[in-house]
Amino acid sequence: MKATIVVLAGDGIGPEVTDEARKILRAVADKFNHQFDFSDQLMGGRAIDELGTSLPDATVEACKKADAVLLGAVGGPKWDDPKAQDRPERGLLAIRKALNLFANLRPVKLHPQLLSASTLKEEVLQGVDMLVIRELTGGLYFGPKKEAGEEGYEAFDTEIYTRPEIDRVVRLAADAAMGRRKKLVSVDKANVMASSRLWRRVATEVLVDYPELEVEHVLVDAMAMHLIRRPASFDVIVAGNIFGDILTDEAAMLAGSMGMLPSASLGDLYNSHKLPLGLYEPIHGSAPDIAGKGVSNPLATIMSSAMLLRHSLGLEQEADAIEAAVDAVLNEGVRTPDIAHTGSEVVGTQVMGDLVLEKLLNP
Ligand code: IPM
Ligand code: MG
Repeated sequence: MKATIVVLAGDGIGPEVTDEARKILRAVADKFNHQFDFSDQLMGGRAIDELGTSLPDATVEACKKADAVLLGAVGGPKWDDPKAQDRPERGLLAIRKALNLFANLRPVKLHPQLLSASTLKEEVLQGVDMLVIRELTGGLYFGPKKEAGEEGYEAFDTEIYTRPEIDRVVRLAADAAMGRRKKLVSVDKANVMASSRLWRRVATEVLVDYPELEVEHVLVDAMAMHLIRRPASFDVIVAGNIFGDILTDEAAMLAGSMGMLPSASLGDLYNSHKLPLGLYEPIHGSAPDIAGKGVSNPLATIMSSAMLLRHSLGLEQEADAIEAAVDAVLNEGVRTPDIAHTGSEVVGTQVMGDLVLEKLLNP
C-alpha cells in the first residue's frame, strides 16, 4: 500500500515523540512492504514563529490531501501571553474543525505491567479497558466567546450543541460499543445545562436503534468519581467536548501516565483508500518542562501510529504488530521516567523507540 502521512510535530516534546513514531512507521513499511511518504507541516507555536499563524493554509491543504495525519503536541510558555492574537492551541482546534474531526477516540487500556505506575490501587485497576469518545468540533470550545481583554472584567464561553452534532457522535459511540462489550455511558450535566438536556434527549433517541446496548446516562461530576471508583465497569463512554477533555486526563491516570494514551480523531472526510482521514495524537501536551531532554515517553505517539494504521489505512495486522512490540518492551521492565518504578530499567525517548523497533522486527 502507498500512503501519504502528514506529520505535525508541533512544539515541546512533539518533535521528539513524533520522530520515534515515524521511525516505527518506516519499519512497518519495510517489514510489510508498504510505501509511506511523510510530509512535515507546521502547526502551533513554531508555525506562529515562522509563518505568523498557528495554522498555515498550506498545512490544512496538505492534511486534506493526505491519507492520515500524525500530530505531536502544541503549546508552551513562549506563546502563553494572554494578549496574544494567536495561540498554538487555536491551530489545533482549527485543524480539528477544518478536517471535521468530530469524534475523538481515546482508548484507556491498562498494560498490566504498569499496574504499579498508577496512583490507584491494583484491585481497582484490574480489567480496565474502556474507550472514551469525545465530541471534538462543537460545544464550549467552539461557541461564541468574549475575552475580558486587558481592562475588562467580564468574559464568557458558550456551549452550543445541535441535534446532528450529538446524533453522529453518539451513533459512532454506539457502533463502537456494539463491537465491544455492548455497554455505553453517555455523560452530561443535564441537571444544570440546557445543552446537556438536549444531549441526553438526542442520545436517548439515537440509542433506541441499539436495543442490545446496556445504556447509562451519567452526570459528569458523578462520572469523575465513578472513573476512579469502578473504572473496570466501563466499556464505551461518550461525552461532549469539554467533559471528554477533562475526563480523559483523569482516565489517563488509570493507565499509569499521560504518556501511555493514544488517540484517533475521525470525521466524515475519506482518504485515497476510502477510509476515514484521521488525525492521530497522544493525549498528552507539549510538556515544555522536559522538552529537549530526551526523557519523554514516545509510547502514546507510537500507539497513536498503530491507531493510524488501523483506522485510516486498514492495516490491522501492522497495527497489532506495533502494539505487541510495545507490550513486549514493557514486559522486559524497560520504562521511561514517567512510568518508572523500583527495579525497572529507565531509558530515554530514543532508546525506548529503538527497543520497540527491535521488537517489531524480531517479535
Ligand atoms: C487535548 C488537549 C487540547 C484540548 C488542548 C491542547 C487545546 O488538552 O487534546 O486534550 O483541550 O483539546
Ligand atoms: Mg486535554
